[in-house]
Amino acid sequence: MKHLTFFLPVLFATSLLPSHAQDGEQLYGLYCSACHGADGKGGGNGTLPPLAGSDWIHGNAKRTIAIVLKGLHGPVQVAGKSYNLEMPPQEDSLTEQNITAILNYVHKAWGNKGQDVKIDMVRVTKSEYADRKKPWTADEILKIFPLEKKATFLNNLTSQVYKGNWDKLPDFSKSKAENIEEEHSGIIDIKLAELKENYAIVWQGDFMAPKTAEYEFVIFVDDAGRLIFDKKTVAEVNGIGPAAEGRAGRGKVKLKSGPNPIRLEYMQQAGEQSFTIGWRQVGTKNWTWISADRPPGKQGPDPIMLIPSAGKTVIYRNFIKGVSARAIGFGFPGKVNLAYSADHLAPELIWSGDFIDASKHWVNRGQGSQSPASKDVHQLTTQKIYPPSAKFKGYTLDPKGNPTFHIQSESFTITDAWKPGADNTLIRTMTMTRGSTPIEIDLSKSKTVTPQNSVTLKPNSPTEIIYKLK
Ligand code: HEC
Repeated sequence: MKHLTFFLPVLFATSLLPSHAQDGEQLYGLYCSACHGADGKGGGNGTLPPLAGSDWIHGNAKRTIAIVLKGLHGPVQVAGKSYNLEMPPQEDSLTEQNITAILNYVHKAWGNKGQDVKIDMVRVTKSEYADRKKPWTADEILKIFPLEKKATFLNNLTSQVYKGNWDKLPDFSKSKAENIEEEHSGIIDIKLAELKENYAIVWQGDFMAPKTAEYEFVIFVDDAGRLIFDKKTVAEVNGIGPAAEGRAGRGKVKLKSGPNPIRLEYMQQAGEQSFTIGWRQVGTKNWTWISADRPPGKQGPDPIMLIPSAGKTVIYRNFIKGVSARAIGFGFPGKVNLAYSADHLAPELIWSGDFIDASKHWVNRGQGSQSPASKDVHQLTTQKIYPPSAKFKGYTLDPKGNPTFHIQSESFTITDAWKPGADNTLIRTMTMTRGSTPIEIDLSKSKTVTPQNSVTLKPNSPTEIIYKLK
């Protein structure tokens, strides 16, 4: 495993630690502050992620325990910023006591409100993942310990599963629930019960109304469902049948701003199963769906267009069609967009017009990859443009959200900065900040983009390239 080499001297110095040192703050200073900053705001002038105000600190403490034990690598978002670095595992250099002390410090320092950590939690986490050798990726660890969602419309949600064969919604007061579970996702998702037939679920929680107003609800259900506010049924579909427009349940209800106790009932007999719930304020047009399922008869979810707002570049960190797996999308104001490949260290696609419709990943479970939301797509490169030893070292963003990619090999370091230009152009500035041998870089293989030639980078002389779409 490759560590960030410039931190190694610090890690080495930790062997001088007197063995009786137990103080969390002191241990933090020795084991974490080189990378995360003594003030928790992220080392390397903010090129490394913060622990102060990080949402990774909150919720289940086993998440941070697991990260300290095994490390973390690859793309990650912390406090609204993206990183793509590597934290080395710490389990060989820290005792269970030390991890407990450090995390009890980190979880409460700098205004953080993380959980208390007990040494048993460290012990259990350590044995649970004893076989794991590789650092986590953010995706992997968030599947096990999801971050607490902030802006959901369903809070304090619990679900109870009932088993039985019914042809309409049962009388739940006469049935016995199998189990009760907390649902932290803030959405109604029947698939979490992992059942196929002859069951019913009741969810209870708070619907967080954005303001005091009259609201309209709609449910589509296969087979039966009911939405209740304060003991009053607002929408109902009963009996056996498919989710269909003609079988929708609709109703209106006045709600006060903030939490309103909500109850949802669902019954499935056999065959297809789904439960879709949406709401809107009376007089507004768009539905907000608070379920994993979506209304029947539509081609996929409503689009969520990612649009650069307030002159700032937006980032899309997920699979993009036609691009290598580790590609990052940038939607620049001015409507020229870029997909940059961290595998090939090169721009792969440039397209004009709309950036990306992110609904597939944000609304559903993130299957498949997303196409650019435009037909004017130009392929620049499809393979690595540097010698094999060159590596992607992450990217930094300027205050406008424009990226600079960092590329490094044994013999050179190159920064590759992108920003929008006038009239459908992108301005790329490449600088060899370390190294002595000039290096030739292919710019584009596309006939529909200028320039098409290559450039030669010389040490410490920034080269500006202006890409124009034909
Ligand atoms: C060699 C540098 C280094 C050291 C030492 C280090 N970290 Fe990290 N840490 C990182 C990097 C880099 C990331 C982000 C990894 C990525 O990009 O996937 C990270 C991520 C994290 C995260 C999740 C993201 C966040 O910022 O909240 C936590 C929590 C964390 N580290 C805690 C710690 C603690 C506690 C220690 C000390 C025991 C520690 N780290 C030591 C480099 C380090």
